[in-house]
Parts: sequence; structure tokens; C-alpha cells
Amino acid sequence: MPIQATTPRIAVVGSANADLIMACAALPRRGETVTAADARWEAGGKGANQAVAAARLGARVAFVGCIGADALGERVRAGLVAEGIDVAALRAVPDRSTGVAAVVVDAQGDNVIVLAPGANAALGRDDVASAASHLRDADIVLCQLETPPAVVAAVLGVAAGGPAVWLNPAPAQPLPETWLARLDLIVPNQSELETLTGIDVRTRDGALRAANDLRGRGAATVVATLGADGALVLDAAGARFSAALRVDAVDTTGAGDCFIGALACARAAGRSLDAAVDFAHGAAALKVTRPGAQAALPTAAEVEAFVAARRSAR
Ligand code: RIB
Repeated sequence: MPIQATTPRIAVVGSANADLIMACAALPRRGETVTAADARWEAGGKGANQAVAAARLGARVAFVGCIGADALGERVRAGLVAEGIDVAALRAVPDRSTGVAAVVVDAQGDNVIVLAPGANAALGRDDVASAASHLRDADIVLCQLETPPAVVAAVLGVAAGGPAVWLNPAPAQPLPETWLARLDLIVPNQSELETLTGIDVRTRDGALRAANDLRGRGAATVVATLGADGALVLDAAGARFSAALRVDAVDTTGAGDCFIGALACARAAGRSLDAAVDFAHGAAALKVTRPGAQAALPTAAEVEAFVAARRSAR
């Protein structure tokens, strides 16, 4: 079923940042100064990126988060509004600056990111409680860890018996053990999977052992993103690996956010988990061919045309 034929409803509770993006030939080593071709500000943040990804792909999206009461925050808000995202639960915090991420990207499209959370750190239980109707109105609620962990605990409480709650445990940090059984889906990348399990995940075998470890501790469904190696899905039906589409990467920033936004959108539109993972691979592959995080996120029509062109080129 085309995503456009339905209206998936997604709520995102998470971070919104201003990204200062600098493209360099190579990432700096410790103590080294490197020169970037240029520097530009773009909207970012794992939460906002996932929200924009889902909105561009056809979902009705509500965003719950905090920005500073400053010019960067107003740009972030305006960007979300321009995507048609409901920002009624986006709070401007008077005494904090908007979150800023310094994103350095190298010629291979790899990056390092340093985040100053700013107002994201002010998101709390009260914000989640005030946004309860937005959450209960969604098919899926997406959370990440660029905002305080208490936010995820509050979402799990408000959403109990209602929408599915998915967690992207990024940036990597240990989780309260009780969350695993309460989450409907967890979507870590390789380093997050390793942090959560202590298992070396550089091989398929290792990734599978780590995903099984999370299942054994209560996680219903694990979708682990493995970069250029694709993804591993593990649920009650068993484990399966799926390949990523091979592309020449220009910028991998936000590729995981794009994957998650697309996965949520496709699931909420009624696609099976495996079909949704395929759709998410297409969206993320197209994203990495473009520079930037939020600015590079594709529409559903672009993803479908990109995947069809790849198929006919085979
Ligand atoms: O996942 C990419 C995002 O991580 C960037 O947009 C940056 O804001 C950091 O939060």
C-alpha cells in the first residue's frame, strides 16, 4: 500500500538542535586543527530529524520538545511548522539556549558530532503530561536519548495501553532494565547495541547475539541498524538480516534518523515490519547521497522513484 494512501500518525518526544555543519577532507585527530570548506547552520537534532523524516514521507506528526527563547530556536520552530508538524507542545525555555550540535563531516560522508543540549535538557515529565492527548492520538511515539531519560519514563506511563512506543537509544547510554519489556520496538545502531549489551557487534554473529540478549531481557522487537551492512530485525518470528542499498555516501549525518522516521511511517501506514525495513533502507540510502541532516530528508515520492530507478538499473 502506498504510504500516501493512508495517514500514519506519529508523535516524537525528543531533541531539536541547530546544527553547525562543517565539511572537511578528513576528520581532525586529537590536538589537530583542520580547515573546513565552509560552515552552515541547519536544523537538526535526532528528535526533530525523525519528526521531519516522517512528515516528509506523509505522516501527520506532532513534536514535543524544548528550544531556547532565541533566534536559533525560532528558526528551528519555523522549520518544523514549514513541514506541517504540530508544534503546540514545543516549549521555548527562557533561560536556556537552543541545543547546538557541531557536526564535522569528512570526504567519505562520515562524521563526528559534539552536542551541547541546551534547552533539550529542560524537557521533562510535565511537558509529556501536557502533551498526553498528542501522544494518545498517535499510532507510534518515537523517543531518543538527547533529552533526559525521565522523559522516556514519562512517555511509557502516558502511552500505556495506547500507541506503540519506540526508542532509539541515542546517544548510547545504559537503560533502566524495566524499560525493555515496556517498549514496543528498540532501534539501536551498532555502538548503541554494544553499549546496551557489552557484546562486540562488529560481526553479524556478534550483532545477532546482542539482539538476542536484548530479546532475552524483555525487548519485543529489535531493529539494529548496521550502517552500510544493513539492518538486523529480531522479533517473535525470528532473526533476519537485510542489506542496505549501496550508494556513494556524501553525508551520513541523520541517516539513522531518516531510517527510523521512515520505518515508523511505513509501519503506521500498515506495512509489515520487513516491508517497512525495506522502505526505510531506501529512504536512508537516498538521504546519504545528499549533504546535511534535516535538509536532506526525502519525500515518499522521491524514495519510491529512487528505489524503482535502482531496480531497473540492475
Ligand atoms: O542524528 C543526527 C543528529 O545528531 C544531528 O542533526 C545533530 O543535531 C545530533 O543531534
